[in-house]
Amino acid sequence: MFDLIVIGAGPGGYVAAIRAAQLGLKVACVEGRGSLGGTCLNVGCIPSKALLTSSGKYAELSHLAAHGVVVEGASLDLGAMMARKDKVVGDLTKGIAFLFKKNGVELIEGWATIPAAGQVKVGDTIHQTKNILIATGSEPTPLPGVEIDEADVLSSTGALALDAVPEQLVVIGAGVIGLELGQVWARLGAKVTVIEYLDRILPGIDGEIAKLAQRALSKRGLKFQLGRAVKAVEAGGNSLSLTVERVGKDTVDTIEADKVLVAIGRRPVTRGLGLEALGVAVNERGFIAVDNSFQSSVPGIYAIGDCVPGPMLAHKAEEDGVACVEGLAGLKGHVDYDKVPGVVYTDPEVASVGATEEALKEAGIDYISGKFAFMANSRARSTGETDGAVKVLASPDGVLLGAHICGAHGGDLIAELVLAMAKGATLTDVAASCHAHPSMAEAVKEACLDALGRAIHA
Ligand code: NAI
Repeated sequence: MFDLIVIGAGPGGYVAAIRAAQLGLKVACVEGRGSLGGTCLNVGCIPSKALLTSSGKYAELSHLAAHGVVVEGASLDLGAMMARKDKVVGDLTKGIAFLFKKNGVELIEGWATIPAAGQVKVGDTIHQTKNILIATGSEPTPLPGVEIDEADVLSSTGALALDAVPEQLVVIGAGVIGLELGQVWARLGAKVTVIEYLDRILPGIDGEIAKLAQRALSKRGLKFQLGRAVKAVEAGGNSLSLTVERVGKDTVDTIEADKVLVAIGRRPVTRGLGLEALGVAVNERGFIAVDNSFQSSVPGIYAIGDCVPGPMLAHKAEEDGVACVEGLAGLKGHVDYDKVPGVVYTDPEVASVGATEEALKEAGIDYISGKFAFMANSRARSTGETDGAVKVLASPDGVLLGAHICGAHGGDLIAELVLAMAKGATLTDVAASCHAHPSMAEAVKEACLDALGRAIHA
């Protein structure tokens, strides 16, 4: 009899399993994929970051002349780039197997179903357990009229494994996946057009920062068609033909592409577990409804991560998992969802935490704001990474409510502001902390000073 069986070994599930084992629970984790780490490690965050880094190095070569570095005869070995990505993934997934052994988590390989509360079935074996934690993650949302074959019409999985650089890549959806993978292939030589339904990119990100990101990404070769909905993708001869409608108008355009990436969001994976028969409540979009302790409508069955409502982010799933099992072990687990950072790993990076300006306006909350452009930051000037800005939002008495960055290393810079917000820090707290010179982090300090009406370098 286990204390806990976790279904799914993605970042939510494997972290929960390890933490539960650390707390003395007898734990098993079931995974059917054949390798650990879930979408994030196998076909998501990690391989995309490997390719973003590799393609970034290739793209950098064309800018080195400005630094006085002349590179001749550079060429692309896509096979080697992909092999490196696969090795990064392989090493990390093996690392989880090691962590399971070290912490005494039993790995059960196969696809799980839940015949009853307290039972997890894998193959022909029914395992008894006091608690079940569903951490089955998410999968790409399909687009009606468009069939993903992972050869020409791709999801993120296919777009991480192309064996040649497409000439024309059309990306449907200017969200996180579309922009990250769009930029990978643009850097490697593809002509990339991103088609987005809304009249802006990166919904959910502060509008002003999203505009800066769009401008910077356009400068780096991505073409955007906003306010457009893809209605159909058809194969024709050597290329694909997309039927694209202008939202709110009767106009229909046709666009040709040799590859199409569908990146219009992800949906929870909750089918096939037997939840309906068990009476586990799911909402209209398929997310499992849970209470504050992550328990579903059926006692003893818990759920975390992408398959419950909330941002679909690996680190949020990890936080969910730890809080959930700490609760099971009698501790007080807690996640502060208002302070979960999000990072888009494009160049420039886009990073955010807390409220956007639009959300504050909509909620009628009084705020002050400050901004500092990297153009005025001496470190950014010396490295040549001057695109973007740091923006902070705070209550009139200076308590930070949100922070948004478009710029190089934004994903690292945001950590200071996450900590500041977690500790209820004010603009003055951040501005009064000494920031090394010259550093990109000085832009964070200056944005806070700007909100206080006393920026030095702006
Ligand atoms: P997303 O929700 O970020 O963006 C999807 C975009 O597609 C939206 O802008 C939406 O308006 C647009 N769209 C929807 N239907 C459309 C249509 N018919 N035609 C044109 N545009 C359409 O979804 P995405 O990029 O697929 O990412 C899925 C999830 O994975 C997100 O929740 C994201 O947070 C997560 N993720 C996070 C990463 C990170 O943290 N760096 C990296 C990759 C994914």
